[in-house]
Amino acid sequence: MRILSGIQPSGSLHLGNYFAMMKRMIEYQKNHELFCFVVNYHALTSVFDAEKLRSQTFEALCDFLALGIDPEKSYFYVQSDIPEVTELTWLLSNVTPMGLLERAHSYKDKKDKGIAPNHGLFAYPVLMAADILLYGAERVPVGKDQKQHLEMTRDIAIKFNQTYGETFIVPEPEIPGNVALVPGIDGQKMSKSYGNTIDIFSSRKELKKRAMSIVTDATPINEPKDPDKCNLFAIYSLFLDKEGKAELRDRYLKPGLKYSDVKKELINVIWDYFEPYREKREKLLNDRDYVYDVMKMGAEKTRAVAKPYLEKARENVGLNY
Ligand code: ADP
Ligand code: TRP
Repeated sequence: MRILSGIQPSGSLHLGNYFAMMKRMIEYQKNHELFCFVVNYHALTSVFDAEKLRSQTFEALCDFLALGIDPEKSYFYVQSDIPEVTELTWLLSNVTPMGLLERAHSYKDKKDKGIAPNHGLFAYPVLMAADILLYGAERVPVGKDQKQHLEMTRDIAIKFNQTYGETFIVPEPEIPGNVALVPGIDGQKMSKSYGNTIDIFSSRKELKKRAMSIVTDATPINEPKDPDKCNLFAIYSLFLDKEGKAELRDRYLKPGLKYSDVKKELINVIWDYFEPYREKREKLLNDRDYVYDVMKMGAEKTRAVAKPYLEKARENVGLNY
């Protein structure tokens, strides 16, 4: 099966990104054809500092490589290295109703917050549809926040196919229940844009600071606590198997549990979990030439897949003569 997903380089990558998307992608790579990319065109809608965008893109690439993306086996690339995607965005734009885009949560939320929306933000879902349709992707693993974007991609593909004849594969989203929405340290969705993240590769000092500030309720120590309403429990559970989760649940339900003890344990658990990847990441961060060579190879391989899909769309709309 052809599986595809991307991530914005709009800040450091965090546990929500890892468990909802990156971890699954790395596992899929064993048995499927994987397209994995860093979405820097999309990040232009929120990052307006060129140096920042460059360094965050580079770090996201190093994170993926360190965690196990194999650039020989998979298609691993930077979105803007495939210019075909912007052409396809234009072709798709003409079958995309304004009303569809006006209903997008990502656009509405920013507008409601008083952020003056630009055309890039408004057109964000069309570019995302092009990201997916350009390679004939069948399955797209994402977190729950991307559900609507995936529905829009499907709507756009269906409308295009109806208008111009069968051109695109209509992709299926894949949103797993248990990690669909990872809470941040404040209990809202963990997100780079909310400053509430626990990053995959932060320093131990920063990890400690973030983990110790996970918001918990004020239940006294000698009373039982509710694991199902606790951010700390939700974050810790990401690292536990079924038995581990049941044990932690038991500790919550018995009087005497101190949230600060659980937080201290969690710091060690997170640190140890990512320990095997830290050294490789450091090496990559210090070897730009290697990383950029890998990206060049990724772009060449990926463009070769994209071209026939774009050609077919050009042909079907009547641009080729
Ligand atoms: P962010 O919101 O931090 O900017 P992105 O929009 O780049 O993250 O998301 C990259 C991937 O990670 C997407 O598939 C998204 O659904 C997933 N994701 C991001 N934050 C969370 C979260 N808190 N819980 C579950 N999935 C998440
Ligand atoms: N919008 C996605 C996010 O913010 C990123 C993204 C862009 C994406 N293009 C994609 C995800 C294509 C999956 C497939 O997380």
